Amino acid sequence: MSDLIRIGDADFRFAALFIYERFGIRLTDEKRILVAGRLSKRLRALGIASFSEYFELVRNDGTGKEVVELLNLITTNHSFFFREADHFEFLSKVILPRAKARLSRGNYAFRIWSAGCAAGEEAYTIAMLVREYFGTETDRLDIGILATDISMAALASAARGVYDEAKLHEMPPAYRSRYMEETGDRKYAVAKEIKGMVLFKKLNLMSERLPLKHGFDIIFCRNVMIYFDTASREHLVNSLYSVTKSGGNLFIGHSESLRRETCPFEYLSPAIYSRGEAK
Ligand SMILES: C[S@@+](CC[C@H](N)C(=O)[O-])C[C@H]1O[C@@H](n2cnc3c(N)ncnc32)[C@H](O)[C@@H]1O
Repeated sequence: MSDLIRIGDADFRFAALFIYERFGIRLTDEKRILVAGRLSKRLRALGIASFSEYFELVRNDGTGKEVVELLNLITTNHSFFFREADHFEFLSKVILPRAKARLSRGNYAFRIWSAGCAAGEEAYTIAMLVREYFGTETDRLDIGILATDISMAALASAARGVYDEAKLHEMPPAYRSRYMEETGDRKYAVAKEIKGMVLFKKLNLMSERLPLKHGFDIIFCRNVMIYFDTASREHLVNSLYSVTKSGGNLFIGHSESLRRETCPFEYLSPAIYSRGEAK
């Protein structure tokens, strides 16, 4: 613990405001030790002795690179395959059959978005379920899976697609044998045909307007809003609504909730919402 560089009141206040204004992430006072712990290593790597000096650098960094480093250290990219499995059951049993009917009528683009995808576990789980459901038809159908995150480090891991065995503990054995390849050292790589189904991109969910062209049938935005305060959460939910197709669904984490009075989505079942009903 002697390695920890102390963060003073003014510096912590600056960090909290800076992170909130740019990314909607609320750093409460209880996070002070955590922030100091995570950033101390970075300060040492840069040969910087104090947080005031470090934030001076962040403030004046025209390239924006240090801001990204800072954010990568602060966000938690914890995730695992088949997390909150009932959502995936709903996907396989309700949503994919509905999508199949639309896709078979032709001229339909079925779009799924994993918003706040961390290292890709959620998006690859979705891809596995889609391939499992549509089988050899998958590549002929117009199905797109977009996965975005703000953390470049998380996106780099997602693109690598190699995971510790611990990330697979909820994955049914049949999926593990079909879609994961053991690479040694208790690590597993996502099969090529699954990797090829997901497009990873950097995106800040707190952007004024989401830079997305298409509407989505399904949005997974799970365990992301835990970082946000009410105002940021409401801004995000409205943004998500604006890019959800009518009849589409939003999944949030089971430990998260949306305020009924202000939420434009309709509640469907725990942590599942819908945007009106498509005919
Ligand atoms: C705990 S992970 C959740 C991963 C996955 N959705 C799940 O439920 O397992 C939260 C992710 O949200 C991302 N995140 C936090 N704030 C964000 C923002 N403003 N824009 C985009 N992604 C953000 C973090 O980088 C992190 O990877």
